[in-house]
Amino acid sequence: MIEAQPPATEPHVLRRPVTDAESRVASRRWWDADADEYQDEHGAFLGDVDFVWCPEGLREADARLLGDVRGLRVLELGCGAAAGARWLETQGAEVVALDLSAGMLRHAREAADRSGVRVPLVQADALALPFTAGVFDVVCTAFGAVPFVSDSAAVMREVARVLRPGGSWVFSITHPMRWVFWDEPGEEGLTARNSYFDRLPYVEQGADGVPGYVEQHRTLGDRVRELVAAGFVLRDLIEPEWPAGHEQIWGQWSPLRGRLFPGTAIFVADRGAAT
Ligand SMILES: C[S@@+](CC[C@H](N)C(=O)[O-])C[C@H]1O[C@@H](n2cnc3c(N)ncnc32)[C@H](O)[C@@H]1O
Repeated sequence: MIEAQPPATEPHVLRRPVTDAESRVASRRWWDADADEYQDEHGAFLGDVDFVWCPEGLREADARLLGDVRGLRVLELGCGAAAGARWLETQGAEVVALDLSAGMLRHAREAADRSGVRVPLVQADALALPFTAGVFDVVCTAFGAVPFVSDSAAVMREVARVLRPGGSWVFSITHPMRWVFWDEPGEEGLTARNSYFDRLPYVEQGADGVPGYVEQHRTLGDRVRELVAAGFVLRDLIEPEWPAGHEQIWGQWSPLRGRLFPGTAIFVADRGAAT
């Protein structure tokens, strides 16, 4: 889940094309450097053994988007500190947690020591999953990997490859309509500023012009087409509503904005028989 970002008028923030390689290098550096701060800020909200889908606080324990996972082989992509993977393990799944960032996986090891719940941790890129075809029943992620690769259609194909036919792929991302607004939790984040149809990545860069943080935008329709092209059947699209009494701000996610429009989209898809 992304942090609050400065308004798009600040000089180091822009929308511009980036190559696959630039995006990968930026993501790895960013998440390694940000891992401690991310866990300091959000670790308590996410818990050590819990699956939280989004800043709206929707929990897998209540939503059951993955169904009954007992005895299923599950891969969590972009797992961060892997609280979700550990929770799935306690539900009887056989889980592998994967992330690009060594910094995030260090937090996953520390949380495993604290909680005593352990899952195998793999450092790899979602674009090149180190698994043979059809080995998982479920692949899932809460805001991991998908928004941070330039070729997200290729991630969909990779996920389809490692899933068995009929297996599920469930992922949450920033709701595409949020890209119309600045990432501000307050009043400034209520005015439409950007085109929903601008697919150029959001880039933060230093004076050297090297991208330090890159996040990709796709429209809702783009996401559906990426899934369908990879052989998935979309079963549901969840837009969690901001719960009454939930006052915690997470970056640009706030009660003020959450009451007016969705902040998260969760896609629930099944791999078709023939991909
Ligand atoms: C916003 S964090 C989400 C972490 C965790 N799922 C959570 O809910 O807190 C995004 C995660 O995606 C990981 N990530 C980014 N690009 C990736 C890639 N290409 N392959 C695998 N993981 C990636 C980052 O390292 C980071 O841990």
